[in-house]
Amino acid sequence: MQHVQVRVTGAEQIGPYTLLRVSRDDLDPGSPGQFFMLEAPGRPLPRPMSVCLAPPGELAFLIDPIGPGTRALCALQPGQELALLGPLGNGYRLDVERPLLVGGGIGVAPLPFLSEALGRPPAILGFRSDWHAEAAQLVPNAEVVVEPTYVTEAMPPGHGVLACGPEPMLAAVARLEPTAQLAWEAPMACGYGACYGCAVEIDGELKRLCVEGPVLGAEAVAA
Ligand SMILES: Cc1cc2nc3c(=O)[nH]c(=O)nc-3n(C[C@H](O)[C@H](O)[C@H](O)COP(=O)(O)OP(=O)(O)OC[C@H]3O[C@@H](n4cnc5c(N)ncnc54)[C@H](O)[C@@H]3O)c2cc1C
Ligand code: FES
Repeated sequence: MQHVQVRVTGAEQIGPYTLLRVSRDDLDPGSPGQFFMLEAPGRPLPRPMSVCLAPPGELAFLIDPIGPGTRALCALQPGQELALLGPLGNGYRLDVERPLLVGGGIGVAPLPFLSEALGRPPAILGFRSDWHAEAAQLVPNAEVVVEPTYVTEAMPPGHGVLACGPEPMLAAVARLEPTAQLAWEAPMACGYGACYGCAVEIDGELKRLCVEGPVLGAEAVAA
């Protein structure tokens, strides 16, 4: 885990989301599903963001502007600086047979990095509108469904599923594929286990999602 100051190299609009690119020099991007805490300009606490892409010398985050912190991050311009802490948490296990990536909405964010690491397996992505679905261009070999169709209606059986998306989607994926790996979200203040702000009950015990997760096996969540 490193705490570094980086420079914004690009901010590209993709549907309602912003793909924020920053320089990373020799900063370790971590593994797919891991995240960084990004300083949000004008906000006291940083915001957790999954690594979306990690080409040489760069890191990119796909950001949904849903509140003050994410809107401030989306307003950053090339040349501005921000502080990053990471990589943090546990990412996806990559030793998966017949991988299938499943994403919903901004849950698409960690999938481009994951797709590259797994050799561009098939993906099924669900969005609430064609505008949101523009983000599917970031994920190779993706089939796209738009509401009222849900990703779980398009998921073929017999795959090792790696998913990220809203809680009801993850719960539905876990029911269909009990061995799926699921990336969960909780509000996070520190990102490295110090504040207990992200504690969730798993298997009857309180666990810090930033340390135990954010990727968990569906069996841990269902237990
Ligand atoms: C490990 C991890 C990875 C993430 N990766 C991404 C990503 O790649 N791209 C992206 O756009 N977002 C991602 N998020 C979510 C993002 O961090 C939050 O949307 C952001 O912190 C909200 O900050 P805000 O100031 O804009 O809004 P706030 O004012 O803080 O929140 C707006 C609303 O969202 C709720 N909320 C805030 N954070 C969360 C959360 N984490 N889970 C559930 N509800 C929340 C609040 O209660 C409030 O109702 C990730 C979250 C986690 C935990
Ligand atoms: S965010 Fe502080 S303990 Fe997880």
